[in-house]
Order: sequence, then structure tokens, then C-alpha cells
Amino acid sequence: MKAIIIYYSLEGNTDYTAKLLAKELGADLLRLEPVTPYPTDNKKFFAGGKDATLGIEPSLKPYSFNADDYDTVILGTPLWAWTMAPPLKTFISGNNLGGKKLAFFVSSGGGNDKKCFAKMHRLTGAENAPCLSVVDMLKNKNPDDIAKVKSFAQKVRGM
Ligand SMILES: Cc1cc2nc3c(=O)[nH]c(=O)nc-3n(C[C@H](O)[C@H](O)[C@H](O)COP(=O)(O)O)c2cc1C
Repeated sequence: MKAIIIYYSLEGNTDYTAKLLAKELGADLLRLEPVTPYPTDNKKFFAGGKDATLGIEPSLKPYSFNADDYDTVILGTPLWAWTMAPPLKTFISGNNLGGKKLAFFVSSGGGNDKKCFAKMHRLTGAENAPCLSVVDMLKNKNPDDIAKVKSFAQKVRGM
């Protein structure tokens, strides 16, 4: 299996989960960066929430991704206004992931991520892709979430 984890993270929690998962899977990592970064102060909720709600696809800084190099692609995002963060939406729209084994993870503050996973399934066409849901892992370092990451990695290995 050759896997890559492609994700966006504003404040490090999704990044923390992605790196833990990468260690479990021996996967490559690609962190997406919008050309215009989202604010990290209180303005983030308005700016990020608005773009997520409107389905905006912000331009990304150049990145290197050759789909032919991978059979497995894991997409990760923070939960923004019950959906995916806009940079991941840009990535999904701009890349053909057809024929790849896909898996998804969402880092939230504890909210309901069902709508987000449904959108990821719909946009990629991977209706049965396995999903992992964790809560602010960098902040909480919750052992239950760490165990969930390991069990998700096992599921991904078995796809
Ligand atoms: C713009 C914005 C919207 C958010 N909306 C939600 C939400 O709807 N539900 C939720 O549980 N957490 C929400 N959060 C919290 C983040 O999903 C959560 O803290 C996540 O782990 C942050 O990941 P990061 O540190 O990788 O950026 C929101 C955060 C931001 C910045």
C-alpha cells in the first residue's frame, strides 16, 4: 500500500491527527495552504464559517501531488460550520481521485460531523469510504482518540 494523507489545518489539531496517522501507516503527508491564510484570531469564525457555508473554493499555494504515486488517499479537515474547511474542497474539486482507495477524517470541537462526511462521500463518489472522527487532538491528547486513530489505520490498511 502506498498512501498519502492530504489535509488542511488552521490551528494544528488536524495536523496532529494527520501526523499520528501517517506514522501508523507509513504514509506521506500533504498539508494544503490557501494563498490567503485564514485568520487565527476571533475573525476566523466569521471568515472561515462564511466561506465554508457558501462553498467557496479558495486558491491554494502550489503543491506537489501525483495521483499515480498512490493507491490510497486519506483526506482530512477540521469541521467548519458543520462542513469541510474550504481548502480541502478546493483540492477535491481540482483533482481526479477516481480509482483510489479513499478514507476520511474530521477534527472537530465536538460538533456533529455527519453532514461533513456525507459531503466528502458525495464529492468524491466514494460512498463507502471509512471515516474517523476526533476532537481537538492537539489540545486534548485524549487516549480514546489516539486509540481511534490506530484502529482507523488498521481499517485503512485492510481496504
Ligand atoms: C471557522 C470555524 C468553524 C468551526 N465550526 C465548527 C463546527 O461547526 N463544529 C465543531 O464542532 N467545531 C467547529 N470548529 C472547531 C474546529 O473544527 C476544531 O477546533 C478543529 O479541531 C480545528 O482543527 P485545526 O486545529 O486543525 O484547525 C470551527 C472552527 C473554526 C475556525
